[in-house]
Amino acid sequence: MVRAWIMDDLETDQRLEHFTNPPEFVSLPDLFKKTGVEYFKINHQNFDSDVTLTNLKEARGYSYEDEITCSKECLQNYEEKLKHFFTEHLHTDEEIRLVLDGSGYFDVRNHDEKWIRIEVVPGDLIIIPSGIYHRFTLDTKNFIKAKRFFIGVPVWEPHNRPADNMDCRKEYLKRLEHGFEVPAN
Ligand code: LAC
Ligand code: NI
Repeated sequence: MVRAWIMDDLETDQRLEHFTNPPEFVSLPDLFKKTGVEYFKINHQNFDSDVTLTNLKEARGYSYEDEITCSKECLQNYEEKLKHFFTEHLHTDEEIRLVLDGSGYFDVRNHDEKWIRIEVVPGDLIIIPSGIYHRFTLDTKNFIKAKRFFIGVPVWEPHNRPADNMDCRKEYLKRLEHGFEVPAN
């Protein structure tokens, strides 16, 4: 089950949980209301016949999908890639990930610049909006296998912060101000 919480600011091992004292959890409905991050539970062992995933792909037009494994053995330039993943950035498109195995943390900035740490485990599908500042790290297991989805030809390019003049950033801030709405599907 995915969990999310406000993260402390201590610069120790990024792969630890970084709870505040006391921990301050963020519910999934609140996560959506406050950041626009969407969450779906998928039967990852049988994702091809998962109705939620099938509907989502059709409704949102996810025409591209692939699989990525992040581990020392499977990812070329592992250290360098993980450094980039953990550098605060945004994208012009949504970042859509379904965890198949392993686990990790997506951190997203909330409205008052705090990090919300989102723990993802197998079966968790999250959609990170375009224009939101975020980053990713493995946890102490150092292993995650995930499916990536995309509408059309994938654009993975990260734009490191500051990227405040980009249209997708301005769009995101507008949505943040007016409130996030669930796309009709
Ligand atoms: C990405 C994640 C790591 O951009 O944020 O692939
Ligand atoms: Ni990203």
